[in-house]
Amino acid sequence: MPSEIFDENYPFLKKDELLSFEEITRLVSLFYQVTSLQKLRITGGEPLMRKDVASLIHSLSQATGISDIAMTTNGFLLPYHAKSLKKAGLKRVTVSLDSLDNERFGRINGRGIGIDPVLKGMAAASEAGLEVKVNMVVQKGVNDQDILPMAQYFREKGYTLRFIEYMDVGTSNGWKMKEVMTKKEIFEKINEVMPLEAQEPSYLGEVATRYKYKGQDAEIGIISSVSDAFCGSCTRARLSVEGTLYTCLFASKGTEFKSLLRNHATDEVIKSRIIETWHLRDDQYSVERMSKKNHTTNKIEMSHIGG
Ligand SMILES: C[S@@+](CC[C@H](N)C(=O)[O-])C[C@H]1O[C@@H](n2cnc3c(N)ncnc32)[C@H](O)[C@@H]1O
Repeated sequence: MPSEIFDENYPFLKKDELLSFEEITRLVSLFYQVTSLQKLRITGGEPLMRKDVASLIHSLSQATGISDIAMTTNGFLLPYHAKSLKKAGLKRVTVSLDSLDNERFGRINGRGIGIDPVLKGMAAASEAGLEVKVNMVVQKGVNDQDILPMAQYFREKGYTLRFIEYMDVGTSNGWKMKEVMTKKEIFEKINEVMPLEAQEPSYLGEVATRYKYKGQDAEIGIISSVSDAFCGSCTRARLSVEGTLYTCLFASKGTEFKSLLRNHATDEVIKSRIIETWHLRDDQYSVERMSKKNHTTNKIEMSHIGG
């Protein structure tokens, strides 16, 4: 979330502007009926800040039968919720951690918070039987010195670590190309010390390029949406909390569903809008990033549509 949320007058959305769990479940079920949807991810913002998010997971799991439900979280509240999330049908968590150094991590999260609560969150998730992955966004000159310590630590822990190239999502992070540590650079840094073997993608549209440490089962992933874009195989759709469907992480506009849901549209009407939105999508922001075509200045913030 942007740091302005700590201002007294920050304009948070009102409760009735957010989709209810029933509305989200209906929309996702209809999406499931007209596409080959197989995976769901609950993200944010911080998904564990939404009251009783476990009951949403339960409804989604019951309504669709989808078993691959994941969550991306900062991990802080996992010790309180991991068991109920698992019981509700959550399969996996991805916890964000950009450094093992307390001071650097405090600077990155902007609140001076150290790594202990995040590691405790991961441990709680693992104890509850959830699969744990870790996301590290690598920013040159900010936390690139943490690549090796993170790789070593999580190889021992047995959690898959995914390195993410620093992306120009939204407009507020002051992104510069020179701050991007590319997939090649990340790979070389690790491979020099801990040799890696490339793995075949496990499914079409997998966003991370996967590697195993030679002679071991532990693996890492590198997500290269800047240096090696994968728009052509992207199969993701993002639903914002206000009911807008976005077909690209870098979108500046999406397709609105809340008014259909609230104006008693039939399932058939909603399904046709889903089909139309999905089939007409032609986003390829990352492929066009550096070309003149790319003039988008009002990209939606990641805190709004999730990572
Ligand atoms: C936006 S967060 C939201 C979920 C949750 N609050 C969390 O902290 O994991 C989702 C993921 O996006 C990643 N992310 C945020 N900004 C990014 C950027 N500029 N480039 C690449 N990844 C980014 C985060 O590190 C995180 O793993």
